[in-house]
Parts: sequence; C-alpha cells; structure tokens
Amino acid sequence: MGFHTIESLATATARELEPAGISIKKALDVIRLARGSISLSFVRADELLKQRQSILRLTTGSKTLDDLIGGGLETQSITEFYGEYGSGKSQICHQLCVNIQLPPERGGLGGAALYIDTENTFHTERIVSMAQSLGLDIEEVVKNIIVAEAYTSDHQIFLLENADRIIKENNIRMIIVDSLTAHFRSEYVGRETLALRQQKLNKHMHKLIRLARAFNTIAVVTNQVMSKPDVFFGDAVHPIGGHIVAHTSHTRLYLRKSARGPVRIARLVSSPYLPNGEGVFKITENGVEEVEEGDEKRRR
Ligand code: GTP
Ligand code: MG
Repeated sequence: MGFHTIESLATATARELEPAGISIKKALDVIRLARGSISLSFVRADELLKQRQSILRLTTGSKTLDDLIGGGLETQSITEFYGEYGSGKSQICHQLCVNIQLPPERGGLGGAALYIDTENTFHTERIVSMAQSLGLDIEEVVKNIIVAEAYTSDHQIFLLENADRIIKENNIRMIIVDSLTAHFRSEYVGRETLALRQQKLNKHMHKLIRLARAFNTIAVVTNQVMSKPDVFFGDAVHPIGGHIVAHTSHTRLYLRKSARGPVRIARLVSSPYLPNGEGVFKITENGVEEVEEGDEKRRR
C-alpha cells in the first residue's frame, strides 16, 4: 500500500489504512505502535524547540537569496518557487540538487536529491556544468540525483506516496516536485473540478510535508503562474485544507525576470516567521549566482 517505513506508518491516518481490510481500531493500534517506536506524538513547546533546532539549511548559491529566506532553505517545511515561464524555477531546482550534496561548511547537507519531474525539464547536462563550476566530482554528483518522471497527476501522487523507502535507502535530503501544479492544471479544467483538484493537491502537499518532517529533508515545489499569482492557494478556490497547507510550514517565493538578461528578482511573499522582502540573483552558465558589485545591483 506504499508504506515501506515505520516513519510513513507513524504519520498515516486510520482512513489511509482502511484498504488493508483492517478495522479502524486495528489501524489506530498500528499507527500508535509505529509512533511509539519513532517517538512521534504530542510534544511540549520545549521539545518543539528542540525539533526546530534539528532544522538544517541549504544554500541557493546566492547569498542575497539565502538571506531573504533567513539563511537558506529549511528542512521539515515546504519552500515554493512560483513565477512565469523562464523565471528560473527549474534552474533553481537543478542548482539545489547540486548544492544539497555540498558538505555543511559549504552550505549543503551532504546528501542526495529526489527530483519528481512533471514537465520533462530535468537536464543532466545542466547539472554537469553546475557541478563543474563548484569543483565537484561530476560522476558522484549525477549519481546522487534520483529523477522520477511523472506522467499524470495521479502518477505524481503515486510517486510521492511510494517515495519513503527510496528516501531512506539513498540518503535523500531534498525532495523536489517540479512542477507541483502543471498536471493538475491541465487535467482538472472547469469550475466543477476545482474542489476535487484542490483536495488531491492538498493531500499531496500533506504527504510532502510529512516526508520532510519524518526524514528531516528539504521540500521544494514549483508553481507556474499566468496572471493570477495566487490561483492555487488564494481566491480562485476555497479549499478547506489548502490554506492550512499554505500557511503552516510554507515559504513562498515569487520569481520574475528583470530587464537585464540573467538577473532575476525574488520576492518573499509568505514565510512562517520572516518579513516579506525582495532581492536579486542571477542565472548564468554556472547556475544560480550572487549578483556582483560590477553587475550594477538593482532592487525595487
Ligand atoms: P517554466 O518551467 O517554463 O515555467 O519556467 P522556469 O521558471 O522553470 O524557467 P527555467 O528555470 O527553466 O529558466 C529558464 C531560463 O534560465 C532560460 O530562459 C535562461 O534565461 C536561463 N538558463 C537556463 N539554462 C541556462 C544556461 O545554461 N546558461 C545561462 N546563462 N542561462 C540559462
Ligand atoms: Mg520549469
């Protein structure tokens, strides 16, 4: 049923175990046992603080961008990059797949990446040039990125539901879903499908957050926009769980192109505890980089 680890059982709901043909009571027993064995239950605030202290941070490659989000992407929560085509969402995802492998003193987590690719945009060549520019062993770097192509939204959901064993066995420290919403958007058209789409999307996001917490990994999703930036978590729909997902552990960054080619503008739109703000970075042959002095820094 897609539960390959104690961690995923511990964070399951009794409803999810129903298809196993066991009673709710039995399902609750199973979940309780799983929780007991990995100590996931009610926590006091001081324990929460301790949990937060185990949060690790990952560099984007740009100090400005890192500072904007409080020092890099955090484990145990979801970071969303949204913006129009070509704004750099997938480029950042590629860069993060390389950076995650850096040792902690260089801003990485010394781990591997899982890339759920829904638009067939993953390019190994791009990884190679980014790894090269960081002076890393290219063969090692490409070995430590597991790519799963998702053909439909259901397939995408299935991949994540079954990711726990891969995560555990491969020292995965980051899960990327690029793009989170593309399949949903093309498959669920028309107002009457909005509720179902939102329900599925929320469940998908919940699965992601639970994996991120259970395995102390970074979680990244991308989201394209047309004219309404907030179409998925804002006014277009009124989801029951959607806002909860969007607001609990969710850092959202809005990316846009600038008048000058490689420079991109990132705006922190929402964060659990940081003020909104803006900063610039650039995308070059080497990947995501800090805009340097000579590049005539531009802020709005
Ligand atoms: P969609 O997935 O279409 O919504 O866009 P996205 O936000 O994922 O865009 P993506 O990250 O793919 O950005 C593409 C842009 O990155 C290109 O238009 C280039 O400006 C830049 N880019 C990509 N590869 C290279 C490269 O090898 N060198 C340089 N200099 N820029 C690159
Ligand atoms: Mg993309």
